Amino acid sequence: MTQPRIEVGILGATGMVGQHFVKFLQNHPWFDLTWVGASDRSAGKKYAEATSWRLDGEMPDKVRNLTVQESTPNGGPKLMFSAMDASVATEIERAFAQAGHVVVSNSKNHRMEPDVPLLVPEINADHLKVVALQQKQRGWKGMIVTNPNCSTIALTMALGPMKQFGITRVMATTMQALSGAGYPGVASMDATANVVPYIGGEEEKMQQETQKILGDLTADGFRPLDARVSAACNRVPVVDGHMVATSVEFRAKPKLEDLLAAIEGFAGVPQQRKLPSAPAHPVIYVSANDRPQPRRDAARENGMAVFIGRLRECPVLHYKFMALGHNTIRGAAGAAVLNAELMYTEGMLDS
Ligand SMILES: NC(=O)c1ccc[n+]([C@@H]2O[C@H](COP(=O)([O-])OP(=O)(O)OC[C@H]3O[C@@H](n4cnc5c(N)ncnc54)[C@H](OP(=O)(O)O)[C@@H]3O)[C@@H](O)[C@H]2O)c1
Repeated sequence: MTQPRIEVGILGATGMVGQHFVKFLQNHPWFDLTWVGASDRSAGKKYAEATSWRLDGEMPDKVRNLTVQESTPNGGPKLMFSAMDASVATEIERAFAQAGHVVVSNSKNHRMEPDVPLLVPEINADHLKVVALQQKQRGWKGMIVTNPNCSTIALTMALGPMKQFGITRVMATTMQALSGAGYPGVASMDATANVVPYIGGEEEKMQQETQKILGDLTADGFRPLDARVSAACNRVPVVDGHMVATSVEFRAKPKLEDLLAAIEGFAGVPQQRKLPSAPAHPVIYVSANDRPQPRRDAARENGMAVFIGRLRECPVLHYKFMALGHNTIRGAAGAAVLNAELMYTEGMLDS
């Protein structure tokens, strides 16, 4: 099928996550990056001049000469990815949605609003239906759709195949990469050969977002997953890849082989529709005792899959395992692009 190409923009394009969007969208088969926005400190400059490129490899040529625009909805493509500083994302994203743009956001600001999808397409593609309510309630033709926090994505993708067994309690302890703190991130004196057992706001986000993502959309809105979720979040000296040591309890304890079969057979709408950024297998079980590992596994499958290993009995809850996800790809830019691909196939990007 030949797809008509779709122009896209990035709000917050000069920042760390913005740069990940630029890189991820390079050579995208459907989307053409034609518009970049940032603060008025950068507006009017060429992207190459406004941006300190912090990612591996060169800044893509196509973006170098784009002029950075002010983040006000005066023209620009209908589809806007957002990677803006959280202090400004609320108002700016709303203004773009009000003006008819489809805002696919990576920021935390709107994630927990009751009429905004917090989307993981393999798990809750049906949550997109709440957009109709959003448009009705807010009186706008555009929309805001969000993706989860970078540690929540690893946990929810791992729990997704297990939901059918009736999850009741989850204990999740993270080991989170430095890249999740943006640039310059954690001071080197804190990060080097050390563990920092606090990431502001992260535990609350993981707990609430997990319940919303794994919950159900009903006629009255979202019904969160009826499970207790406890998160303990730690920053560790790893470059990319968030690990989550997880214990889980079910309504009735399933057999280990049934859990494994559910993990290995797991697929969702992105796989059925063969979306361009969808990994063939979204959750991959790694059987070696010393895997998954951030350096060896996080970037496999273009950074879009989540890896589970060491699934075993837990003497306190029912089972425990390790989950790993690439925090800046599946946990940020890649997640938002996959969301937009799903929305395209739902006709939500049509003019
Ligand atoms: N870092 C991560 O791995 C990560 C992961 C998941 C989610 N997030 C979320 O993603 C968002 C961006 O994070 P980041 O690390 O990329 O931050 P960042 O590097 O500080 O970039 C912030 C971006 O926002 C723009 N901005 C700042 N003030 C603005 C204003 N008044 N109007 C319009 N644009 C403005 C900046 O433009 P200028 O360059 O012109 O200042 C820049 O493009 C945050 O909401 C963060 O919580 C980050």
